[in-house]
Amino acid sequence: MILNIQKMVETAPALKIAIDGPAGAGKSTVARLAAKKLGYLYLDTGAMYRAATVLALRKGLSMEEPEEIAQAVAHAKIDLVHETGADGSPLLKVFLDGEDITFEIRSREVSLLVSPLSTIGPVRDSLVEQQRRLSEEGGVVLDGRDIGTVVLPNAEVKVFLTASAAERAKRRMKDFETRGENVSFDTVLKEIVERDKRDSTREIAPLKKAADAHEVVTDGMTVTEVVEKILEFCSHARAHERSRRELI
Ligand code: CDP
Repeated sequence: MILNIQKMVETAPALKIAIDGPAGAGKSTVARLAAKKLGYLYLDTGAMYRAATVLALRKGLSMEEPEEIAQAVAHAKIDLVHETGADGSPLLKVFLDGEDITFEIRSREVSLLVSPLSTIGPVRDSLVEQQRRLSEEGGVVLDGRDIGTVVLPNAEVKVFLTASAAERAKRRMKDFETRGENVSFDTVLKEIVERDKRDSTREIAPLKKAADAHEVVTDGMTVTEVVEKILEFCSHARAHERSRRELI
């Protein structure tokens, strides 16, 4: 796979920030905003697995054909392009071989298939390689399931973002409604719980809190409050890094 990512701003070498957590915890919203505040590059790794799922669907490949899917992913071109919305909010557009698939990657169909696809080892290998390459210089915020544990085990800031399953299902139901896909609360809740279970129990790179991650439970917290918390962790990490360098 060739992954191109267009930087929103030029970044100086700086911290690596890993944000992991279960489905619907609000990772992508807060990761995108924190990256904007810091002038960092934001990498939505879930969007990469979702783009790979769209690719498999387009090619008519079933999840029982892991080698064919891995081959297709290795040869695909995925672009993540940062744009600014009319209201000044940061947007991330996703292109597959030049076609804008930003809307499609969030469909329910893709949400149901992405988790089985992401258990395919060679697919993970090629995506993780791209994620590490883009993070080499620091000044990055990555969100996903395995960032603090596998992709960037040396990240200076690790956050494990979570919320009760009911809260996450409520948020996800709203997202589907906005898209015009009406699904009952019970169905969304069941699908979220199933996806979390599959993500946490898979053999390769399961979803789990890194030992050195800060856990943030976001029930009842606003997006701004969560972003501020992450920025606080970053200030501490920077101060820690400065004093460590002074000691050398
Ligand atoms: O936004 P949401 O939390 O629903 O999910 P996402 O971040 O878009 O990720 C979709 C799926 O991709 C997850 O349920 C995982 O199965 C997979 N994924 C993964 O395996 N590793 C990552 N680093 C990111 C996502």
